[in-house]
Amino acid sequence: NVKPEVKWLGTPISELKRMPTCGRELPPLKDIPGRHTVMIRTDLLQDGRVPVPFPAKFMDTWDDVHVKMPCSSSNLFPIVDEVIVHISIDSIKVLKHGNVTSKYFCGKTANINTSLSLSKVLKPDDAEHLFDSLLPDMVQLALRAYELCTKPIPLLKAGTNQSITMSQEQVACLLANAFFCTFPRRNSRKTEYCNYPDINFFRLFEGSSSKKIEKLKTLMCYFKSVTEEKPTGLVTFTRRSLDKPLTKLHITCEGTIEDDGCGMLQVDFANKFVGGGVTGTGLVQEEIRFLINPELIVSRLFTEVLGHNECLIITGTQQYSKYTGYAQTYKWAGSHQDTTPRDDWQRKCTEIVAIDALQFRNFLEQFQPEKINRELNKAYCGFARPEEQSQNLAAVATGNWGCGVFGGDARLKALLQMLAAAEAGRDVAYFTFGDSQLMTDVHNMHAFLTQRKISVGKVYDLLRQYYNSVCKSCLSRRPDVSLYSFIYQQVGSSLAPNDSDSDSARH
Ligand code: AR6
Repeated sequence: NVKPEVKWLGTPISELKRMPTCGRELPPLKDIPGRHTVMIRTDLLQDGRVPVPFPAKFMDTWDDVHVKMPCSSSNLFPIVDEVIVHISIDSIKVLKHGNVTSKYFCGKTANINTSLSLSKVLKPDDAEHLFDSLLPDMVQLALRAYELCTKPIPLLKAGTNQSITMSQEQVACLLANAFFCTFPRRNSRKTEYCNYPDINFFRLFEGSSSKKIEKLKTLMCYFKSVTEEKPTGLVTFTRRSLDKPLTKLHITCEGTIEDDGCGMLQVDFANKFVGGGVTGTGLVQEEIRFLINPELIVSRLFTEVLGHNECLIITGTQQYSKYTGYAQTYKWAGSHQDTTPRDDWQRKCTEIVAIDALQFRNFLEQFQPEKINRELNKAYCGFARPEEQSQNLAAVATGNWGCGVFGGDARLKALLQMLAAAEAGRDVAYFTFGDSQLMTDVHNMHAFLTQRKISVGKVYDLLRQYYNSVCKSCLSRRPDVSLYSFIYQQVGSSLAPNDSDSDSARH
């Protein structure tokens, strides 16, 4: 029942932020190996000038992590000598006179037919221009791949996070090659590029529907523009995957979060009422931390109970006391000189995050998907700082979160914290509090997962599978197969060689 004169509702569009006014200053453009491939000379970048390709000479790469270029010496389809040159010398004349053979345009007759149809629908002057000027210019542009696109172009593979910045001129050259269908291995879907979109334009030349003609006219307008006047800008392509690889792990059976995690994000194994039993009888990790850094206690004055998706971050508290022992054996051990430096706000550079784990009385319960999600979200809430870049984030100093009073399994919790930290883009320093077996087990698991490039999402799937195949049907108090052995088995069998034909099964 909106009145017809009402054309918009909600926040006025003028109040929504727009670039470039809302953006902050860009950092200098820089090639970062493996993360950001910059295909031009950044030092020569200048407004209004055509960017200079980098490196100066064509780097001939022919592997499965880079785009296979038409001008590579490994390209067994010698486009330079046979196809493009033919196109440039003969076939454009041929095209113009309507006398077409299939040997041009990579053996795709269809494209020529369409170019012919295009010539019929174009105004005579435009058709003349197409054959006399535009197509020859496009051929020249395509042939310049060797001098323009000198740096190997990385494939933005599934699950990776990386960027490519290239000049508009390099883009135009690549597209001219796509137009002439010169990208090798890209004309059939049943090849190594079956997971990539079509790049060669051959489908565009199939048939002569008016839709295709209009599409071609649109693209020819682009090619006319870029061949008549070289564009001078840059374009960045960034693949962002939420599915992150695991980050680094340091794991030790010596030391504590507070002593050895200086400058890191230090985890408080909290109660949902922060400080837990500090003013009562409790005397474990959280209470001890609140006693030695008593400024933490004031948070209890104003912090309402934490919800499942909440944490409390306390920055700047000072350590005033030393202690020995733990719980029953805890002893005050004198005053402490806290030499931690202060930040620009005059806070001690000590960031403590209170995250409360779930309490488990039944061991199997913690493997339930909803419990796992809750713990992952809680840890992620504590670790993630979306406003910061990953390279500016300190590691997380943690340990057996939820595994003392709260009864959790340290091997599961270690994995969950590694997932949350990876998702938050932080490394992990893990203190096992004297447990050297745990140190070895968690280290081996982390090494196993990272060596096999098993991402956060994949580990999460494995946790789900573990619950479904081991925990759900388990009648005893403890599962018959431990989580880690299950992961080793599962990943081991999925990588077995007789499984590797699963790819061909898809065709
Ligand atoms: N550094 C590293 N690891 C430590 C340290 C330390 N300083 N202290 C203890 N650990 P727990 P929870 C290890 O039981 O299970 C409180 O009352 C040690 O292996 O304090 O999350 C809160 O207020 C220990 O067994 O944490 C909550 O109510 C394990 O960490 C409740 O306890 C877990 O410490 C939280 O219980």
